[in-house]
Amino acid sequence: MMQNMKDIAALLAINHLTGTSSDLLASKMTTEDLTALKENYWKEYEAYKKQDLHLDMSRGKPGPDQLILSAPMLDVLSSHSDLTAADGTDCRNYGCLDGIPEAKELMGDLLGLPSENMIVGGNSSLNMMYDTISRAMLHGVYGSPKPWCRLEKVKFLCPVPGYDRHFAICQHFGIEMVCVPMKEDGPDMDMVESLVSKDESIKGIWCVPKFSNPTGQTYSDEVVRRFANLSPKAPDFRIFWDNAYFVHELTDEQIPLLNLFEEAKKNGKEDMVFIFCSTSKISYPGSGLAAMGASFHNIQNIKMQMSIQTIGNDKMNQLRHVRFFRDKAGVIAHMKKHAQLIAPKFQLVEQILEKELGFCGIAHWTNPKGGYFISLDTQPGCAKRVIALCREAGVVMTPAGSTYPYGLDPEDTNIRIAPTYPTLEELEPAARILCLCVKIATIEKMISEIAQEEKIPYAIAQ
Ligand SMILES: Cc1ncc(COP(=O)(O)O)c(C=O)c1O
Repeated sequence: MMQNMKDIAALLAINHLTGTSSDLLASKMTTEDLTALKENYWKEYEAYKKQDLHLDMSRGKPGPDQLILSAPMLDVLSSHSDLTAADGTDCRNYGCLDGIPEAKELMGDLLGLPSENMIVGGNSSLNMMYDTISRAMLHGVYGSPKPWCRLEKVKFLCPVPGYDRHFAICQHFGIEMVCVPMKEDGPDMDMVESLVSKDESIKGIWCVPKFSNPTGQTYSDEVVRRFANLSPKAPDFRIFWDNAYFVHELTDEQIPLLNLFEEAKKNGKEDMVFIFCSTSKISYPGSGLAAMGASFHNIQNIKMQMSIQTIGNDKMNQLRHVRFFRDKAGVIAHMKKHAQLIAPKFQLVEQILEKELGFCGIAHWTNPKGGYFISLDTQPGCAKRVIALCREAGVVMTPAGSTYPYGLDPEDTNIRIAPTYPTLEELEPAARILCLCVKIATIEKMISEIAQEEKIPYAIAQ
């Protein structure tokens, strides 16, 4: 009963904030009503604080139960194993700059690319992306009139909200970031087309085309086709297609993503495309395989530069992965086991969000069909406060703002929830505390808005 009363009061308060539906009732919510409402929630909050919790929903990493799934991979190679790759390469020795043939075939099959268009690298796709930009800065990419560092300005388009580490790479190299809003089916393509066609300093765009980090969308066929047919002013513009969640479905429903490389090839524009992926969330993050797909010209250019950097990557790990997974079907079957472990975690968080916040419309969140994140949007100006309240109550969340370039979420609304690492038992209180903090931060904002309207200092209004 008490919970109901509180929820109804919150609903009224929200209507007061948004001016929707029951305006009449909402207009009766005074600062005193809101303060009383906040006090109720604050008592719950204090009770959680006393529990001295240490919960974490910030890390987009597999849980230990997921890592166990790949344990047999450690046994596929032993001192008795034949360590020869398909082309006769001795995997124990130097060589094979771009990866052993069977690893290139496996990763190419997964991405829908011929193995000759693949490079299998080290243990991290982020590292491959960093290296790709680093080389572009120093030497340019295939077809660059100049190394990018010789230009007055280099800009990248960044669909937002997006992946903080992409933005960190740009910031590190002094590449200016231009935000492009994400829509239901991918980035705002009108904006992308218009910007790249006019501005020669725009050299690239970051994309996470499937189960995007953090919003979970998959780009529509139309969006992929428009990417494949971009006509950038910069002759050396590149699409950084980070297909990190390419086989990371949470349910049996396979979500299709049109093959950008194939589509670009139809337009004779395949040189514009760099594709990245890894097995970090298939086998082991930090000990998986990273791969890159690109056109013939790009591959030649990259291999030439890579040959100065290294004699080859860890072929034993490549062999181990291929012998364990065998083929694309083996990877898909393995990913179903991951889904069985993590889908209930997403469901639990989504249920709690729905139960605690669904009734009042103060927040919106995604219900992704794959990937590693739920994206939560609070009322403008509340996300930072929510994260701070969570931290004080023992729940670590990804810092507010980190899904935007330079850590600046202009509306201060977006929160990335990573449900995979904690156990179900840890997730339950963590998600409840998060919802409670959203309610408190929203009410605080309402009180402050009334205070501003009535020109009462916030401290007194509270
Ligand atoms: C979109 C995206 N790309 C890349 C990575 C990192 O990949 P890797 O482990 O292969 O470096 C992540 C990890 O969270 C990610 O979300």
